[in-house]
Amino acid sequence: MSKPIFLIGYMGCGKSSVGKKLAVRLKSEFIDIDTSIEKMTGKSIAQIFEEDGEDQFRQLERSILVSLCSRSNIVVATGGGAPCFFDNMLLMKRSGITIYLKMHPDSLASRILASDTERPLVKRLSKEEMPVYIAQHLREREVFYNKAQIIIKGESLKIDDLEHLVLNSR
Ligand code: S3P
Repeated sequence: MSKPIFLIGYMGCGKSSVGKKLAVRLKSEFIDIDTSIEKMTGKSIAQIFEEDGEDQFRQLERSILVSLCSRSNIVVATGGGAPCFFDNMLLMKRSGITIYLKMHPDSLASRILASDTERPLVKRLSKEEMPVYIAQHLREREVFYNKAQIIIKGESLKIDDLEHLVLNSR
């Protein structure tokens, strides 16, 4: 039985795609918190932000996170804000292994701009505003992200390397 693995990092850093690959390698179940929230509420993340507000979204995110902490053999993709609210980061670190997928703000901006995923926090930003906003927001959030047990660059990530890091930290 292995402790849960939590992938954390800014929007667009690849938590879900890396998480799916890592889960296959570790023969674990992959869980995306945003998807779990959407299934539970029957609403999209964008709809929850719009109709119920961000505070309600953060409560839902927290309650799903709490329920995942006691599970084993799972790889979890968290939302970009999850580690930065309540004591979520502490909770994840205590109950599992946290991995920060670190990416340069410019890489994040171009990935977000190219993606189809609706992201309420950045949807109104222009192409020019996006990298500036992300650089500032990431500085604030890295206070939390940098507490992760494993920090790995997202741009050139090799799943073999990540798998070894995880196996060595177990
Ligand atoms: C958020 C990130 C999103 C989603 C929500 C809020 C954030 O997830 O949870 O839109 O606060 O950074 P991704 O990181 O998967 O885009």
